[in-house]
Amino acid sequence: MNSTIEIKEELDLYSELPDDVVVSVNDCYKIYKAQELEVVALSGVSLQILEGKIMAVVGASGSGKTTLINVIGGITKATVGKVYWANLRTDITKLSERVLTEARRNFIGFHFQLNNLLPHLNTWQNVELSARIAGVPRNIRKERVNKLIKMVGLEERKRNSATTLSGGEKSRVAIASALVNLIDTEGKGLVLCDEPTGDLDPETGERILDLFQELNETIGTSFFIVTHSQQVASKADVTVELRDGVISGFHQSGIDLDMLGDTRIVRLDDKHRLPMPTDLLDLAGNPREFRLSYADDIFTLEPQTGDVVDALREKKARLCRVCGHEIPGGKFICSNCGSQVTV
Ligand SMILES: Nc1ncnc2c1ncn2[C@@H]1O[C@H](COP(=O)(O)OP(=O)(O)OP(=O)(O)O)[C@@H](O)[C@H]1O
Ligand SMILES: [Mg+2]
Repeated sequence: MNSTIEIKEELDLYSELPDDVVVSVNDCYKIYKAQELEVVALSGVSLQILEGKIMAVVGASGSGKTTLINVIGGITKATVGKVYWANLRTDITKLSERVLTEARRNFIGFHFQLNNLLPHLNTWQNVELSARIAGVPRNIRKERVNKLIKMVGLEERKRNSATTLSGGEKSRVAIASALVNLIDTEGKGLVLCDEPTGDLDPETGERILDLFQELNETIGTSFFIVTHSQQVASKADVTVELRDGVISGFHQSGIDLDMLGDTRIVRLDDKHRLPMPTDLLDLAGNPREFRLSYADDIFTLEPQTGDVVDALREKKARLCRVCGHEIPGGKFICSNCGSQVTV
């Protein structure tokens, strides 16, 4: 595999990483400290990005989407937790910046919204500059840039300066730039996109997405896309829902952002906790206690109101653990020996 790189530092290899996983995020927390304040932006996030798949991330503003993308790309280090990259098979949160930068080159491309194009350079020069920064060897650089510009359909705009390009065209230059080191990696490459179609009209957004899908199918690159858009989410193989730094659901393709409850699959986190989707809790009047049962392959959660819990306590007579005297339901002190009953 071309994306395997030679790194001189000793790496703590993780042999259990499945072959089809490009990046594995394991129980990650990210806490930002700003002056006196601590913000928990990610709280126990685990997910795996699979080779050749498109994963989308949806969630309200401030739910931790950009933080997650930065943790995956090694731009921000998780405060706690592990992030494995397939090209290194090691936890990248332990690596030095130098090793990370080197490892990122043939493995991860970033596509930022209204991206970092230099306005005085033309299309070709912008992509070539990205290739140069990414360390594409000089002898193959020109050919690579031409190939990419063709792939994203910008041959006719090759000599146009960035200022004269439309939003969609700029976005395509950014895609070509994100791919400078990934087109020859035979899969296992990952493009991270933070709201790639955010500022585009729906039709142009659609074309950019088609391009992602085409690249995904032809060169096997995986995409991890933060989005608010129905269009994007509906093209993804899997969509992850983030709420307050917690993954509140996974969805297979064909998602409708207005009907998330129809397709949501919840997953236990590493400590066997289950996220409760707030839309369902709202529907049920935000109960805090549940009776949990399991029968015939079905788990049932029955909301318990305060009254129900009290009634249950009241109904149940019990025997005093100390003297064996019967204590009527609703009483918590044994009338015989004075022992206190703990519920
Ligand atoms: N560098 C930082 N320092 C302190 N707090 C931060 C920092 N970056 C993000 N946060 C906080 O972490 C939380 C998650 O932020 P993040 O940017 O990941 O959200 P987001 O889902 O991308 O939001 P949006 O949709 O608005 O882009 C927010 O409460 C934000 O204020
Ligand atoms: Mg963001």
